[in-house]
Amino acid sequence: MRRSCFPKFRLSRAMAWLQLVLGGLVIVVSISSLFRFYAAGFFMHNEDICLHFYSVKDVYDGFDIRALSDRVGEVLNRMESLQDKLEKTVQQLEKEKDALDKTITRLEYKNFLEVEVIRPLYSAHIALRQIRLPKAEGIGNFTMEEEPLINTFVTEEIRKYITPKKNRVGKVNIYGAEKIHNTIGHACVLMKKELEEYMDYDIGSYCKDDWNLAQKLMVNGCDPLPRRRCLTRASKVYQKPFPINESLWKLPDGRNVRWSNYQCRNFECLSSKNPKRGYSKCTGCFEMDKEKPKWVANRSVPVDFLISDILAIKPGETRIGLDFGVGTGTFAARMREQNVTIVSTALNLGAPFNEMIALRGLIPLYVTLNQRLPFFDNTMDLIHTTGFMDGWLDMLLLDFILFDWDRILRPGGLLWIDRFFCNKKDLDDYMYMFLQFRYKKHKWAISPKSKDEVYLSALLEKPPRAI
Ligand SMILES: *[C@@H]1O[C@H](CO)[C@@H](O)[C@H](O)[C@H]1NC(C)=O
Ligand SMILES: *[C@@H]1O[C@H](CO)[C@@H](O)[C@H](O)[C@H]1NC(C)=O
Ligand SMILES: *[C@@H]1O[C@H](CO)[C@@H](O)[C@H](O)[C@H]1NC(C)=O
Ligand SMILES: *[C@@H]1O[C@H](CO)[C@@H](O)[C@H](O)[C@H]1NC(C)=O
Repeated sequence: MRRSCFPKFRLSRAMAWLQLVLGGLVIVVSISSLFRFYAAGFFMHNEDICLHFYSVKDVYDGFDIRALSDRVGEVLNRMESLQDKLEKTVQQLEKEKDALDKTITRLEYKNFLEVEVIRPLYSAHIALRQIRLPKAEGIGNFTMEEEPLINTFVTEEIRKYITPKKNRVGKVNIYGAEKIHNTIGHACVLMKKELEEYMDYDIGSYCKDDWNLAQKLMVNGCDPLPRRRCLTRASKVYQKPFPINESLWKLPDGRNVRWSNYQCRNFECLSSKNPKRGYSKCTGCFEMDKEKPKWVANRSVPVDFLISDILAIKPGETRIGLDFGVGTGTFAARMREQNVTIVSTALNLGAPFNEMIALRGLIPLYVTLNQRLPFFDNTMDLIHTTGFMDGWLDMLLLDFILFDWDRILRPGGLLWIDRFFCNKKDLDDYMYMFLQFRYKKHKWAISPKSKDEVYLSALLEKPPRAI
């Protein structure tokens, strides 16, 4: 009975083998064609295909490595399961040796499968596994140099921005580089939706008036931003600024600001008396009469140092510096009167701080806490900080910031910590942070802010470093 149905059984087995082998062949063929497509760049966007024919080498922006990677992944999975299947069947055949003995053709068949099918398939599998999709390091000059993050974004302008720009003549440029990489912050990946909304613009036309979205991206670490090719909007009624002998202490002309993203529509509205002014940091700093006494008039609390006292420590030595904090530039204005040039960091946190500083004739520096400051090592005579470095700051972030300040401060430069405040119980931690650099202590003052909080002011001097 068994004998009679054997040929049929053998036939169906053989058919199954044939199917498997054919399946393997299909996969091998599809892989090789996949790689031919890959090499030829047919995964590129339509507009890039023609470019490909001019120069394969230069075209890899728009190349969808992610899609390719997914396809290759699929093929690998299919190959793996095919191999499993084949191996299991061979094991099955091994178990049924008795039956095989009687039919030499089947034993031959088994050897054939092992040698001719499984082994090549296995080596193909390994070979495919060894092919690494292009990595950031690049794999030579071939078309597929993957740029970091490029496949994360679909928006063409982001991809174009990220793609490095090679020098036209193929030589090293004045900076000693072969190409220029435009940079973005890695948090852009986390804020992909917002970034793509921000980057949805027509090249060469007017930008949307969405600086607040840009700032949201920036403060969250998507910084610098990749939008570079639209025309920024400006006030239609922009007036020439006041001359410098007037601008420092005069509320600027409100017509010079685009107010559409603020609650207020003019500078007068930003007064601390207005509960709907739209900002909460440095309340009152848009009122010149409130700003004028700062750093020049004696105050009751010991944490308020006077500019004259600070400058007297090193007469004539303090010429340039950075004011890191939230404000409208008053510190820089007072320093300017002493012939000291101060750059003031500013974010537009609910009010036009940058515009205000610039309209006063001072230099606003639009940076976030996460940026390495755009100054070279050992260049600044002074860093003054007030108004933002209070107790919410993560200790590690504070450490990064303080080390960066130390970097840009010159030997003999002064670090003026002005009214830093924190919870009393945290004071020791912060003191350690400030003192870890072993700066010379010129001034040091602590006074209570509230029941639980204290103010700390310090004037520290960076020592020379012999190393
Ligand atoms: C890239 O190509 C240049 C010449 O075209 C060659 O000198 C260089 O070695 C190549 N680099 C790599 C990594 O293959
Ligand atoms: C500012 O300087 C200009 C000339 O440079 C002068 O005409 C003007 O009166 C000065 N303004 C003040 C407030 O001193
Ligand atoms: C501040 O007070 C000190 C003495 O307490 C005095 O010598 C100094 O002139 C005062 N400075 C100002 C700007 O009022
Ligand atoms: C600032 O510089 C100007 C011009 O050199 C000079 O007339 C003035 O006295 C200086 N001011 C101070 C406070 O040193």
